[in-house]
Amino acid sequence: MNQDDLKRMVGKAALDYVEPDSVIGVGTGSTVNCFIEALVHSRMRIESAVSSSEATTKLLQAAGIRVVDLNQTGGLDVYIDGADEFDQHRRLIKGGGGALTREKIVAAASRKFVCIADESKQVGVLGKFPLPVEVIPLARSLVARKMVALGGQPQWRENFTSDNGNWILDIHNLDLVDPVAMEKAINNLPGVVTCGLFAIRPADLVLIATNEGIRIS
Ligand code: 5RP
Repeated sequence: MNQDDLKRMVGKAALDYVEPDSVIGVGTGSTVNCFIEALVHSRMRIESAVSSSEATTKLLQAAGIRVVDLNQTGGLDVYIDGADEFDQHRRLIKGGGGALTREKIVAAASRKFVCIADESKQVGVLGKFPLPVEVIPLARSLVARKMVALGGQPQWRENFTSDNGNWILDIHNLDLVDPVAMEKAINNLPGVVTCGLFAIRPADLVLIATNEGIRIS
């Protein structure tokens, strides 16, 4: 199976965690797009969805799924989203698609966070994938210098503006042996909106697509 087949397999597997007629949170990225496709194909009726990005909103609306604002819903039962990396404790790096801030908000509002990924995303220690950090544009250089002090090598994601009107720094070679401490340290820097570490609130479940089928972590 190639990576697209694995993404389709795990997108479909996530349907088992969606209750008919519920309000769900939907993440962003190519794996989530497979989930949306599977949801539409299943003909399961859901009440509505809270979206984590403009791109996902467009897809959901094109599929006839009602998208609602998080301020109009209470807590969500389930949030389905992909990841750029995950470890054995279900801690994640996210934000390769630049939607990390809204993703973190919707994850925080959800009782269950089901992460869907293929096995190529599993790592022993997070950090091979450069860590995305969303910054207020004015603070880009300041945050970049602070990230160097924390041991990383920041790279500005040029020609990219987030859905929130902010910029992204991708931080290479950070030591993420203690991802909770690093998430707190980065999020505490003035000018940082949030970083793509999901360690303080990890996923509750990772569905891992492998050539042998779905593994659950
Ligand atoms: C977007 C994300 C995505 O979940 C992450 O980049 C994985 O994407 P894909 O499913 O396309 O590999 O965090 O901000």
